[in-house]
Amino acid sequence: MLSVTERIAVLKKEKKAVILAHNYCLPEVQDIADHVGDSLGLSVIASRTDADIIVFCGVTFMAESAKLLSPDRTVLIPEINATCPMASMCSAEQIKDAKECHKDACVVGYINTTASAKAEMDVCCTSSNAIKVVSSVKNDDIIFVPDVNLGTYVSSKTSKNVILWNGYCPVHRSITVQNIIDMKAKYPYAKVIAHPECCTDVLNIADEIGSTERMAEFAKSSDSKDIIVATEVGMKYRLMKENPSKRFHFIDHALCSVMKMTTLSSVLRALENVENKVIIDKFTAERAMIPLKRMIELK
Ligand code: 13P
Ligand code: SF4
Repeated sequence: MLSVTERIAVLKKEKKAVILAHNYCLPEVQDIADHVGDSLGLSVIASRTDADIIVFCGVTFMAESAKLLSPDRTVLIPEINATCPMASMCSAEQIKDAKECHKDACVVGYINTTASAKAEMDVCCTSSNAIKVVSSVKNDDIIFVPDVNLGTYVSSKTSKNVILWNGYCPVHRSITVQNIIDMKAKYPYAKVIAHPECCTDVLNIADEIGSTERMAEFAKSSDSKDIIVATEVGMKYRLMKENPSKRFHFIDHALCSVMKMTTLSSVLRALENVENKVIIDKFTAERAMIPLKRMIELK
């Protein structure tokens, strides 16, 4: 009798599938994935894969982005209800209204948005390329949706007039300066790395700010043995695996429940039945793929 992991491996081969998992996924899901990474890295892989099926372990906006970038592939999302709350904080209608109010502005949208919101954007970005994307657009005025913290950070690093939205990630917003100060008291020599979805006052005391992939790079290159990591706790597994001699300190309550929904059983079920296909209507897809492709070209 084969184990769940072995059955996934057999089906993956049989169906010519590739499994992509975000850095916040459960350890056992990361272990069966062909690629583990941040939103940008996984989008790039999805756009270039020759697999017939992409199984996206993460949240729905990530699987939708994979489908938009690889429309000819079948994209499966093992947990169809794994929706990032930040992506629900910005609708297509709200973006249309904002464009009416700021007619000369360009809309730069975080990838953590729905396909219909993307259809109203000029260009997408992720936490790893937001500064580069915003700096690359010709317009002086930028409507930046939906993350107010990432938008504020980008604004501080560019000369653009960034018009902010009021969206946020509840997980990163829950990390306070006091949490970091308390950690620092325990590990005074530790370096602090923070995700740009964290509040500005947390970012201000960080030694490094970056996407989850940047965190993996920083962990490898830093000579600090102790690193305080201001992001979702799922990141700890990969950091420990790649850097067994270092210690990583997380804020325990920073847990994203939607990122933990995908399990080995749900991956197996999706692959076995080729179920939970990402379907985006043609009208939305044609428009939503444009800002995403612009971002990939800028990479
Ligand atoms: P990254 O692109 O940095 O992996 O971030 C994705 C995300 O959802 C952070 O909360
Ligand atoms: Fe969304 Fe935050 Fe979870 Fe990332 S960590 S998927 S932004 S809720």
